[in-house]
Parts: sequence; structure tokens; C-alpha cells
Amino acid sequence: MSTIRLGDTAPNFDAETTEGKINFYDYLGDSWGILFSHPSDYTPVCTTELGTVANYKPEFDKRNTKVIALSIDDMESHKGWVKDIEETQEVKLNYPIIADEDKNVSNLYGMIHPNEDNKATVRSVFIISPDKKVKLTLTYPPSTGRNFEEILRVIDSLQLTAYHKVATPANWKHGEEVVISPAVSNEDAKGLFPKGYKEVKPYLRMTPQPNLD
Ligand code: BEZ
Repeated sequence: MSTIRLGDTAPNFDAETTEGKINFYDYLGDSWGILFSHPSDYTPVCTTELGTVANYKPEFDKRNTKVIALSIDDMESHKGWVKDIEETQEVKLNYPIIADEDKNVSNLYGMIHPNEDNKATVRSVFIISPDKKVKLTLTYPPSTGRNFEEILRVIDSLQLTAYHKVATPANWKHGEEVVISPAVSNEDAKGLFPKGYKEVKPYLRMTPQPNLD
């Protein structure tokens, strides 16, 4: 079983989806990407998750992020279940679901955890940057639906810290103070962060989020 670690190149693949055959890299293009698996179609938690992601599509679009879901159910199952998601979650499904019947993608990404369930994927999430590097991995158990607000929060942090020499503290949300990277000297910090910074400790320096007016 494959183990994907942060900084690895996200494996490319071809797959059948509810929106036709795709090549993963072509699907992502220059965008950020979220690949997430669910255990099974026609199950309650998964139904709420896939509906929630469809409802959040405008938020993913704002962040130049494409989403794609996966389970090892077949296409007929996916297509029937999509109708239930749309009916019960009051949303139009607006992203593809991979029908990974042969487990090709699940195995590439290590989404099947045999000691949990050897016949289904767990709730995995991979966030992938435009250069196709894996920036976040998450694994949730079948019984716990994911918090997609948290996924959006991480994308905000990843996109901010990719371009500014900062990191985001515990429970940070877009618009709040950030921490200056320890590698930045006080001298350089004055130039890099014209809004100023507060030195709580020499290694803990807070500054307003730099990419806001
Ligand atoms: C669910 O989506 O509700 C679910 C799926 C697999 C195991 C437990 C719950």
C-alpha cells in the first residue's frame, strides 16, 4: 500500500468519473486540487459530505481550487446516488466522482486501510498545489464526517504562506494575525511587514495578515 507524504508529487492517473473519463493532472490544470474519498455510496454521512462540498463550490472557486471525490462503487451506483444527494441536500452536484472499481486510485493514494475496512476507502483528503505537490493529508474514520470549513481554512493558510514569510497560528482564520517565520530576522521583518509586528518572544512575532488592505 502506498503512503503519500507531504511534499511528495501527487500521483497522476486516468479514471472514469460521473463527468466522463479524466486525466487527473489535466483536470487540475493550474489550479489547486482536493481529492477526497468516501467509504460508500448510499450511506448517510457520505451523503451529507458530498452535498456539503457541492454547496461550498463557490468557496473552492474563489480559492482557484478544483475538487474531485472518489469511492470504489461503480458508475451506475454513483449516478443513482447523485440523485439522492441532490434531492436531500438541495444542491446540484457540480464536481466529478471517480468510480474506482478496480481500486487503482485508492491504492495509489493509500485510501484503503485494511485494519479499518479492507473493502472500502476511508475518508481521505489530499490537498494538492498547482505544482502537483501534496500539501495536506487527512484521514478520518467512516463514522465521522469531515469539517469542510477546516479544509477551506487550510487552503487559505497554504495559499497565504506560499507567498509570504509567515505561518498561521492555532485556530487562525482568514483576516486574523499571523506569525512571522522564525527564519526572518527582525531587520528583514521591518521591511517585509510594513504594518509592523509585535514581539511576544524573540521566536513569537505577530503581524497583521500581510495580503489584506
Ligand atoms: C456513512 O457515510 O454514513 C458511513 C459509511 C460507512 C460506515 C459508517 C458510516
